[in-house]
Amino acid sequence: MASETNGTSGIDGPTEERIVPMRLQKFLARAGVASRRGSEDLMTAGRVRVNGEVVTELGSKVDPRVDVVEVDGVRVSLGEGAAYLVLNKPENVITTMDDPEGRPTVVPYVPVDRFPGLFPVGRLDRDTTGVLLFMTDGDLAARLLHPSSHVTKTYHAVVRGELYDEDLDPLRDGIELDDGPCVPAICRLVSADEAYDVTLGRLRRDESAVEITITEGRKREVKRMFSAIHHPVLELNRVSFGPITARGLDVGAWRLLTADEVGKLRALTASYHVGDRNPSRDDGHDFAGEGADHDE
Ligand code: URA
Repeated sequence: MASETNGTSGIDGPTEERIVPMRLQKFLARAGVASRRGSEDLMTAGRVRVNGEVVTELGSKVDPRVDVVEVDGVRVSLGEGAAYLVLNKPENVITTMDDPEGRPTVVPYVPVDRFPGLFPVGRLDRDTTGVLLFMTDGDLAARLLHPSSHVTKTYHAVVRGELYDEDLDPLRDGIELDDGPCVPAICRLVSADEAYDVTLGRLRRDESAVEITITEGRKREVKRMFSAIHHPVLELNRVSFGPITARGLDVGAWRLLTADEVGKLRALTASYHVGDRNPSRDDGHDFAGEGADHDE
């Protein structure tokens, strides 16, 4: 099911400039072990060895060409370099790399054999389709998900009821949800023709389509926003994550990001400094912290 539709690289080539020598926590993050912060925690916990010696000193550097790095006794390497890709997520799959209950997940749709350590950047609900980034670069993922990076995510939503432009004003003003006010959203009504052309199929009677752009990633945020204005979401498609779209990708297909796209993602997060708090789990392994409800 994993299908590559584009031959562009998405891989950091092993250039001298990028890999020699580098701080150990950066090496671990690039290898997809954890965020830099999470990697520092692994180091200070004594779980990281370089050439057989435990290294807890945060300033330590490694040469990935010659040094043998292990975490909990397991060898870690940069492999081909970090991989970055976008999946056009289908419906009815859960955004996780491992579901203990054995439900359908995104795993069969992405090339995990080719890129071990691949993980989703944030989550989409099971019934949400569209742009879902995957990477092996824990550091960039943590930066993209950090609230301070304000990365825009644009969705197309089909909602119940006939909407007028002014009905969207509460979302534009920053609607109050049970976990606090939302950052003001950018929204516009989408015509039936545009909805059909773009992502959503034919609108039925008593349905409207809206394009909404948010910068947060709270759990089921878009659905909760529309429920709060009494127009529940019937279909949701993420059309972009920052500069990345799934344009031209069949549902269920993936492509590697171009070097230009990866550069743009890095530039978006440039003001977030290493050492700032990591939004994901403390051990840094879970970068799927954004947004959605797995169990829907
Ligand atoms: N907001 C939602 O409600 N669901 C998603 O899947 C993503 C954002």
